[in-house]
Amino acid sequence: MSAHFDVPALRAQFPALHQSVNGRPLIYLDNAATSHKPLAVLTAMDAFYRRDNANVHRAAHTLSARATEAFEAARGTVARFVNAARPEEIIWTRGTTEAINLVANSWGASLGPGDEILLSTLEHHANIVPWQLLAQRQGVQIKVIPLTTTGELDLAAALALLSPRTRLLAVSQVSNVLGTVTPLARLIAAAKSEGALTLVDGAQAAGHLPVDVQALGCDFYAFSGHKLYGPTGIGVLYGRHDLLEQMPPWQGGGEMIRKVSFAGTRFNAPPFRFEAGTPPIAEAIGLAAALDFLTNLPDGWRQHEADLLAQLCDGLDALPFVRRIGRPSEQVGVVSVTFDDWHPQDAGELLDQMGIACRVGHHCAMPLMEALGLDGTLRFAPALYNTREEIAATLAALARLPEFF
Ligand SMILES: Cc1ncc(COP(=O)(O)O)c(C=O)c1O
Repeated sequence: MSAHFDVPALRAQFPALHQSVNGRPLIYLDNAATSHKPLAVLTAMDAFYRRDNANVHRAAHTLSARATEAFEAARGTVARFVNAARPEEIIWTRGTTEAINLVANSWGASLGPGDEILLSTLEHHANIVPWQLLAQRQGVQIKVIPLTTTGELDLAAALALLSPRTRLLAVSQVSNVLGTVTPLARLIAAAKSEGALTLVDGAQAAGHLPVDVQALGCDFYAFSGHKLYGPTGIGVLYGRHDLLEQMPPWQGGGEMIRKVSFAGTRFNAPPFRFEAGTPPIAEAIGLAAALDFLTNLPDGWRQHEADLLAQLCDGLDALPFVRRIGRPSEQVGVVSVTFDDWHPQDAGELLDQMGIACRVGHHCAMPLMEALGLDGTLRFAPALYNTREEIAATLAALARLPEFF
């Protein structure tokens, strides 16, 4: 139990939670899509625009110096959050999607026929389509790790698919549909022993699990700010420094160059080589505030999240008309359901009428839906600011659904 974790005090820091929707108090269970933002983030971004607003790097004036200092300090905060060896291993992106596209376009440029990339069935489209584009461009082959019946990655199959032809293993740490925590340590060790690099899609993991890129031993790690209490429009690619140094730029413009002439251009060092143009400055500062907020939370929030998910799963299992999708041995953040007789969309709309926000659809994981034989699910994604009462109210609302169909 999470008795010592003061949820009401925490909720007081999230203005958006305190509103009525459709005449009912909002119960926000769509945190896997995006989370709400604490005052610390709103204040940090507001203060930047009110006081320090200027472009970063290069300028001679005081505001720019302040903006640059805050912006680069934010990079340092992210480096500490993921335990990178140095801040230069942190590249700002628009989100997980752009981070993966960066690796596919830059590192991926050296791949060709005979090279393989190993993905898994439960990947988000953000970790599928960039590799398919690369495969089309350069004749690379994509292999896919299948799932077990409980919704976990089939480790034996994964090990059999790895070979010296595998150049990259790119998998999620946590599934955005099933909540499955993937066996990253085993997969990364096996990929390394075949000489492959590894990329972790941490979009659904970084807001729930501790992240330590050095302990994981991955080469790339991607996540989005908006899913862990930060702003939209900002995300992170962690990359091992020696790799980044060898990688070509993928977008050209200001900031990413050392010297430009019409005879030729010399590129900047990482991370700037991968950050063409004016970066999302206020968003980087907002993300650092979110990470500080998360890092300084009182103990017990992860247990609180686990308790909420367990309460939700148990309650769902007690409803005879609800089918819970996947039973992974380790599950974090989300749970998906379907209904024997109704479409998830209809159920989602009825819940919305009762003030409950959840998500329906394929969740940008169409290959997973195909493997599960489904066209969509209804997904609940509680976060640290949700309460036991909200979960109970959601289960009670679900129990009433048969009245409406
Ligand atoms: C597992 C996973 N990967 C990638 C993404 C893409 O994140 P973004 O849209 O922030 O780039 C998401 C978003 O839902 C996700 O859940």
